[in-house]
Amino acid sequence: MTISIPAQEELEALDEVLKRVAPIMRPRWQEKMSYLLNLTKQARGVKTLNREDVIKAAIFVSHPSPKWHENTAYYRERHGYKAKKDNYYAAPRRVKRWDSTATKPKRPPGEMKVLAFNSSPRKGGNTDVLIDEALRGAQAAGAQTEKYMLHYLNIKYCIGCRKCKEPNFKKICVLKDDMTDFIYQKIFDADIIVIGLPIYTGREPAQLATFFDRLDCMRRFDINKDLKTPTKLIRRGDKTAMVICTWGVITDKVDVYDHIIDRMIVLLNGHRIETVEALSACGFSGMLHGFDDDHKAIILRYPDEMKKAYEAGKALILGK
Ligand SMILES: Cc1cc2nc3c(=O)[nH]c(=O)nc-3n(C[C@H](O)[C@H](O)[C@H](O)COP(=O)(O)O)c2cc1C
Repeated sequence: MTISIPAQEELEALDEVLKRVAPIMRPRWQEKMSYLLNLTKQARGVKTLNREDVIKAAIFVSHPSPKWHENTAYYRERHGYKAKKDNYYAAPRRVKRWDSTATKPKRPPGEMKVLAFNSSPRKGGNTDVLIDEALRGAQAAGAQTEKYMLHYLNIKYCIGCRKCKEPNFKKICVLKDDMTDFIYQKIFDADIIVIGLPIYTGREPAQLATFFDRLDCMRRFDINKDLKTPTKLIRRGDKTAMVICTWGVITDKVDVYDHIIDRMIVLLNGHRIETVEALSACGFSGMLHGFDDDHKAIILRYPDEMKKAYEAGKALILGK
């Protein structure tokens, strides 16, 4: 058997990637990347790979990818949108609508209830206006819609008491706040849930993390099916969802936070709620931090991008 020795370009690229991550992570990254690179070599029947292949392996190993740095540096240099207002206005803002899997719901549009939660604290911010536009699409298709901003609700942290997992516990949660007063019931009554999130430090904001922690009590119905409760069980197929995610940096493919959106979709799936629409939107950092001089969300100046939210909202009710 011949032992293949990676070419200089491959070694240098691997070194470049590994230097970007904390030393404590390097052995694990190296192991995972070597595994992927070897699979690629086998598939192609080649002995060495180029820089692009190594970067691609790094993208699979962990997001944000090294490409993320390349892209943002490129845009910052090209548009200088942090330093000059003209450049800020000229910088691209993009919305990506994921391939829709929405099908026509079984009930008439007029009976459909869409319940949206925005986890950004900024009223009229980019997440907020994209949610509103999706809701406008859903309304145009005949649905009833409602939106809450998590930040302005009284939602306490989960205290981890696990009372909600006890078979004889007759309430949904021990806490007393807006969740127990009306939000759980609204969720049980809704047909479609819309979750909006801005990326904060590479993940969902604390408001959304708290919200998902508090939804954990709904899972106990999986274990205690005969439990008598004031609410009803969520069956698979009862509800669908849409996720709308926005962030600051500009990247070509609008995909650097796909893994965070994936995570939200997995969490919803854990509640038997299938996400059928997703939007990613980027370019909301720089001089005015995603607003214009009138303090309006900058994405409002991009009607073609806004239209994607409208179409997605409509598809929630009518199918794709
Ligand atoms: C605390 C904080 C952390 C942020 N972290 C990131 C980040 O890691 N990556 C990024 O691209 N944008 C980041 N941003 C920018 C926001 O994601 C972006 O401005 C978002 O679109 C704001 O949504 P909104 O207009 O709906 O409030 C951050 C913003 C804040 C306030």
